[in-house]
Amino acid sequence: MQQSPHGQWSSRWVFILAATGSAVGLGNIWKFPYTAGENGGGAFILMYLLCVFAIGIPVMLAEIMLGRRGQRSPINAMHNLAVEAEQHSIWKLIGWSGVVAGCLILSFYSVIAGWALAYIPKMLLGTFSGIEAEQAGAVFKGLIGNAWILLLWHTLFMLMVIVVIARGLEKGLERAVSVLMPALFMLLIVLVLYAAFSSGAFMQGVHFMFDADFHALFYPNCTPEQTDCAFSGQGVLSAMGLAFFSLSIGMGAIMMYGAYLPKDTSITSSAVTIAVADTLVALLAGLAIFPIVFANHLDPAEGPGLVFVSLPIAFGHMDGGMFFGTLFFLLLVFAAWTSAFSLLEPVVAWLVESWKISRAQAAIGSGIFIWLLGILSVLSFNAWSEFKPLAFLAETPFADKTFFDLFDYLTSNIMLPIGGLFIAIFAAWVMTQAARREELDAEPPDMSYKTWLFLIRYITPIGVALVFLNAIGVFS
Ligand code: PHE
Repeated sequence: MQQSPHGQWSSRWVFILAATGSAVGLGNIWKFPYTAGENGGGAFILMYLLCVFAIGIPVMLAEIMLGRRGQRSPINAMHNLAVEAEQHSIWKLIGWSGVVAGCLILSFYSVIAGWALAYIPKMLLGTFSGIEAEQAGAVFKGLIGNAWILLLWHTLFMLMVIVVIARGLEKGLERAVSVLMPALFMLLIVLVLYAAFSSGAFMQGVHFMFDADFHALFYPNCTPEQTDCAFSGQGVLSAMGLAFFSLSIGMGAIMMYGAYLPKDTSITSSAVTIAVADTLVALLAGLAIFPIVFANHLDPAEGPGLVFVSLPIAFGHMDGGMFFGTLFFLLLVFAAWTSAFSLLEPVVAWLVESWKISRAQAAIGSGIFIWLLGILSVLSFNAWSEFKPLAFLAETPFADKTFFDLFDYLTSNIMLPIGGLFIAIFAAWVMTQAARREELDAEPPDMSYKTWLFLIRYITPIGVALVFLNAIGVFS
């Protein structure tokens, strides 16, 4: 296959950093804690870990492999691969669904990243010094209640993403991730230590995260006294959706980065490293946040505001809190930024390959489109917070959702898992054995190759199917 026209990573290490940069983002630090909180904690986290290891890692490996063999943006890479396997080019649809999902995700992702941007000046100005839970909540509500302010930060974040992608990613991106990722990791550890020693509720946080209470997962909003609670498979679906979202798999972002991977690098160990780092950051974020939540009598199920309300309280009471707080939100922005690159890159690479326009034109054009789409999410938190576009689908999970909620639910819980399912089917059943072995350097008898093949052939597809069936209530 002809080599990618967009360039290559300069080393395996840079690829790992960039892919980890894609994986580690708002999903770990913002979404993981509040979704775990909404679904009762421990049992949810257990399901999440199960999904990461049994489904996530095999799919990530498959995606990197397909990307490197296809050498193009996901749409054209899947076309190349289908031709190579002498199959219909309908497999391109995997790439198309990825491009659509990428646009939808980036549209709301940028709005949330905008919240983190807005918190940087707030921290700097000492808005949170000595603050109590109630006031911290009011500051957050004040921010999301103002559409114009949200729009401003959303615009700024989109501009930041467009500028980097327009320039070509290697120089800017490669340098940025090698500094930012280790710094983010270290800061999280500082925060966990703070939560461990000063919140007074560290063990409460640990119990919430690691005591598996399946009743809380399957029967949401149900007190122990109630006997007539309704079963719901939505929690498990959310755990799987979050695993896909957090690992950046199922939509071609990792496939795109795989296309830039030099031929002589090991895919298997890279995939495991990325997934383990991603999981570690999510767990650390939980350990930093839940003790603060319990120490301040906040509600772990309070939703998307959780991190923006709980952490400022900790910073507000910590020596040097203004400094660490500013640094934290700065790093959260960088984490989101390095993820956003991988959401836009597949769209831009496809435009460049297929429409013969320049990278800059492609980045600006697609960026404007996504920016416009993001306005629907901006309004979901204020003017349109009561507007539920799919309210007519009563009794479905879609009925009570704003645009923001819908985009999030549709991508994480439906599009990414289905994308991942078809990626698994293609890699496991459609691609030739010889091509697979060549990409994964598998000389028989190779145990890690065989394990992967077993997981991707049987466990991944069956697992995804079971979670979906459970979510529509087939087993209840
Ligand atoms: N993995 C990113 C995060 O956790 C989000 C993302 C999803 C990025 C899908 C790329 C593709 O924040």
